[in-house]
Amino acid sequence: MKNYDIKDPSLAAEGKNRIEWASREMPVIGLIKDRFAKEKPLKGIRISGCLHITTETANLVLALKEGGASIVMCAANPLSTQDDVAAALVEYGIPVNAIRGEDEKTYYKHINAALDNKPQLTVDDGADLVTTLHTKRVKLMGNVIGGTEETTTGVIRLRSLEKAGKLKYPLIAVNDAQTKYLFDNRYGTGQSTIDGITRATNILWAGKKVVVCGYGWCGHGIALRAEGLGSQVIITEVEPVRALEAIMDGYQVMPLIEAAKVGDIFITITGDKNVIDKAHLQAMKDGAILANTGHFNVEINIPALESMAKSKRRIRPLVDEYTLKDGRHIYLLAEGRVVNLAAAEGHPASVMDMSFANQALCLEYMVKNKGSLEVKVHPVPEEIDKQVARLKLDAMGINIDQLTSQQKKYLTSWEEGT
Ligand SMILES: NC(=O)c1ccc[n+]([C@@H]2O[C@H](COP(=O)([O-])OP(=O)(O)OC[C@H]3O[C@@H](n4cnc5c(N)ncnc54)[C@H](O)[C@@H]3O)[C@@H](O)[C@H]2O)c1
Repeated sequence: MKNYDIKDPSLAAEGKNRIEWASREMPVIGLIKDRFAKEKPLKGIRISGCLHITTETANLVLALKEGGASIVMCAANPLSTQDDVAAALVEYGIPVNAIRGEDEKTYYKHINAALDNKPQLTVDDGADLVTTLHTKRVKLMGNVIGGTEETTTGVIRLRSLEKAGKLKYPLIAVNDAQTKYLFDNRYGTGQSTIDGITRATNILWAGKKVVVCGYGWCGHGIALRAEGLGSQVIITEVEPVRALEAIMDGYQVMPLIEAAKVGDIFITITGDKNVIDKAHLQAMKDGAILANTGHFNVEINIPALESMAKSKRRIRPLVDEYTLKDGRHIYLLAEGRVVNLAAAEGHPASVMDMSFANQALCLEYMVKNKGSLEVKVHPVPEEIDKQVARLKLDAMGINIDQLTSQQKKYLTSWEEGT
């Protein structure tokens, strides 16, 4: 019986070429793949993976397969799947259940298909797979050794699950590795969000007032890149230290209700709900463009926008024009879903190289430590984080200094002062 569900198998050749192209920028995953091929640390391990089906994910999955794992994949977002990559993975022998543009019912059907693999390890991005396992597929739980979580929103959900006393197996918060969030969230989301909005709209960024809602690691990157293109950046925040940081980084900071009146482009990146709400939509200028790049499509109150509109039309692919009852137009990109993945290709391979190196090494770590890890959300072991940084520097041909023994002693002592 067919154990995959993809759009079109004939797209495989194109997908394979693009996966190969991404691999050129993923030397760390390449090294891990070569070692995994020799050592087979995941021999016989069943993995259910819920990640954006992109060329970078394909390189991770192929490394895990070399390690001996048997993996079934589904998508972490209904709009992020690259159908050619899904087809290529199926040709490489990896069942993928993901079709770009799938509805919510199909999205969950695909998550369940991935879970039918009876996972011993889970790899998740946003915690939809882990949540389904904990609520609807509890009978499968006995097999599970552990799992990893890729993104901020997923880690928040897993910590809530842990706090509620309902977490059933150990998980590692890959997102919280320094070699993940400092590069993937900041430079990856920064560049790819601008890329997605540009591809969807072809706007000129110079001279635009860009409102970035949320100044976390992703918000930092988006603000930096928008400013670099000549935009005037306004930050909105709810957390005082981050608001202060945004001011000192040179941006304007104000409540969203004020920014709403002046902004040309609004980008939500908070992991929060209804950040752009009805009152903000009511205050916006004619022609305002809205994009979300946070994990779920709840950051912009789309039902409110729908209720305020007298008509809606698709004016370009992934650009919906809402004509409001008062005559203003508001443009929503990618149906409020992750714009960098829906309208562009997601993060560049070079940053995913580090995020996914953490994934691969954490999965190996969970197998090595099977049965001895406490049931909780664990940080990425520091030695893995440092190893990823070292391997990336090596691959870039960059050497750094080493501490002398005198310096090591000095840095761990208290006796020496002025
Ligand atoms: N699109 C992608 O490829 C991609 C990549 C990485 C992370 N993410 C997602 O992006 C989101 C943000 O991730 P992060 O790592 O930057 O998180 P973060 O926790 O570092 O930052 C989020 C910021 O949003 C602020 N915030 C919360 N509610 C707000 C509100 N109502 N108004 C203004 N600010 C508000 C918080 O105070 C915080 O500073 C998460 O959903 C994460 O999963 C997406």
